[in-house]
Amino acid sequence: MPIMPMLNECVFDVAGDRELTFEKVSGSYVWDDAGRRYLDFMAGHGVMNMGHSRPEISQAVNRQLSEIVHCSAAFSHKQRQRLMTRLSALTGMVGSRVFLSNSGTESVEAALKFARIHTGRSKIVGCIRGFHGRTYGALSAGFNPRHRKGCGSLLPDCEHIAFSNLEALRAAIDENTAAFILEIVQGEGGVRVATDLFVQEARRLCHETGALLIVDEVQTGFARCGPLFAYQRHQILPDIVCMAKSLGGGLPIGATVFDRAIQPVKGMHGSTFGGNPLSCAAANAFLDVLLNDYAELQIEEKGAHLADSLRSCSQVTEVRQIGLMLAADITCSARLMLAYIQKDGLLALSAGPQTLRFLPPLNTSWSELNEGIAILKRTLN
Ligand SMILES: Cc1ncc(COP(=O)(O)O)c(C=O)c1O
Repeated sequence: MPIMPMLNECVFDVAGDRELTFEKVSGSYVWDDAGRRYLDFMAGHGVMNMGHSRPEISQAVNRQLSEIVHCSAAFSHKQRQRLMTRLSALTGMVGSRVFLSNSGTESVEAALKFARIHTGRSKIVGCIRGFHGRTYGALSAGFNPRHRKGCGSLLPDCEHIAFSNLEALRAAIDENTAAFILEIVQGEGGVRVATDLFVQEARRLCHETGALLIVDEVQTGFARCGPLFAYQRHQILPDIVCMAKSLGGGLPIGATVFDRAIQPVKGMHGSTFGGNPLSCAAANAFLDVLLNDYAELQIEEKGAHLADSLRSCSQVTEVRQIGLMLAADITCSARLMLAYIQKDGLLALSAGPQTLRFLPPLNTSWSELNEGIAILKRTLN
């Protein structure tokens, strides 16, 4: 009898197996175990905003590995302190504080808990097509019925309104609301961009009723949509910001930045691994690289070029783009199209049965971008 089961038998397929084994990665490219090269326009589901295997990040992690690997939350270390100070400052939320965790869904769990504790209210308002993660709280704030199927009762007192619908917003946010949770651009929901009026009204209503405005920047953050955070396009400040994905430069980290007035009681929330030295060192190095290179990234120009090229393809019916976050509705199955594109050497994502999504590294060069566009034109025409 074999002692080890076959690998395929023990894999729980969480993301739809693409039948590709990574052997090597660099910048905007990955190579499979047969030595074939692919242009990566999904960047690890939006994690590798500054490309794969940046030497500055690897060096920082290696250095940290030889110094301190773990430090419990009861003690401090300089990488964690530096990261918290930077995140608080980068949000523009003066005096804000930071809770560090390990993922996007955990950053949302903390936000929901803080909002309920702070307001003493329970109602959470989210948006139709919103996505905030797969743990029970985040699942309750998110919408997709497919993600909730069979999960039983979720958090009570959560409701969902139509995205960018002012009337629905005004009807939902009231004196019983603990928080309105918003993606400024819905990622999993198909790259749908909130109107400025909707964002402004959400901010105003939350102020007026004492509800907290939680902005989920897990996918949109760290310059994916142009500015460092997507809410900065609207000149508002949230009460709580959720971050994860690209922050760790590939290492797992989540961050919840919250207004100073919010005072969760010590011991009500925490994380054993949150703020661990390796992830914090990686995040600090990632921020160094991003902030250093930011002026040269041409995020909006590259995004607009990719969008125009997609619009010229005969199988594309609609394109939505903001920065380097794009979706293209197509006339056929997205799953099938992703397989064709992959065969031709390009990795992309879906965001619906007939919607392709692109999250290329922000430092993808113009020639790499055009190489990807050539593949897309071949398959989408
Ligand atoms: C907007 C948003 N929030 C939360 C999450 C959950 O993040 P994680 O998968 O790290 O838990 C995601 C993941 O795609 C996301 O896009």
